[in-house]
Amino acid sequence: MANQFALEARKVNKHFGGVVAANNVDLKIEPGELRCIIGPNGAGKSTLFSLLCGIQRVDSGEIFIQGHDVTHMQPFKRVRHGIGLTFQTNRAYQELSVKHNLLVPNPSFAISKETHQQGRERYMLALEEFGLDQNDDTPASEIPHHTLQWLEISMVLAGFPELVLIDEPTAGMSRDETDHTSMVLKKLNQSGLTIIVVEHDMHFVKNVAQKVTVLHQGRVFTEGSLDEVIANDEVKNIYLGHAH
Ligand SMILES: Nc1ncnc2c1ncn2[C@@H]1O[C@H](COP(=O)(O)OP(=O)(O)O)[C@@H](O)[C@H]1O
Ligand SMILES: [Mg+2]
Repeated sequence: MANQFALEARKVNKHFGGVVAANNVDLKIEPGELRCIIGPNGAGKSTLFSLLCGIQRVDSGEIFIQGHDVTHMQPFKRVRHGIGLTFQTNRAYQELSVKHNLLVPNPSFAISKETHQQGRERYMLALEEFGLDQNDDTPASEIPHHTLQWLEISMVLAGFPELVLIDEPTAGMSRDETDHTSMVLKKLNQSGLTIIVVEHDMHFVKNVAQKVTVLHQGRVFTEGSLDEVIANDEVKNIYLGHAH
């Protein structure tokens, strides 16, 4: 049945041997949302992303992108429904230049002219805000860590997605770089891009200050406004309990 959600997961389960990585996960993302997913290491955040974009298959449950049942679709077909993904570990091609990395995604599949135009505008916005040059011949292996992460976000946007999943975009970044990343993601979101971002860093989540989903041991532990989630003592326990 069609619905209005940009993305919906219904009772999604996934286990690896004895590890339950996704446990009856329900997730509803409205078009135009900027949702943060947080939770301690091993909570199942990256697994959920790979299930949503089809890199891994669910054991049970259903996944919809803009009302289309994509549960049994391969990743490239889900991309045609407007989803884009960045990975926790950087996937830019080290030996390729910045320029050629940005040419890898190819938005030549059939999308409407209007979507195409918005996608192009968002992509150009990202390049400008991240200080990336489409004609830069520098190999990705020679650019700073944070620029590489910005390059990866830009590569995803080069496919003109409607919805992006971004896994730990600020890992290893300085405070200033983190702040810049959250500012740019907010601007992209204001331009209509739906964003789901997994982030460990509460400073980043506070910057973004939108609805938060807390995952714990593969379950949706709680969901709500940033203030509600921060005020939740059990959320504090989860975090403190896993602090190094
Ligand atoms: N491919 C895999 N094979 C076996 N176990 C996995 C695999 N991917 C993830 N896991 C396990 O699933 C759980 C959730 O992992 P993950 O989704 O990476 O968590 P997070 O991103 O929240 O840190 C962990 O216990 C992890 O060890
Ligand atoms: Mg992860």
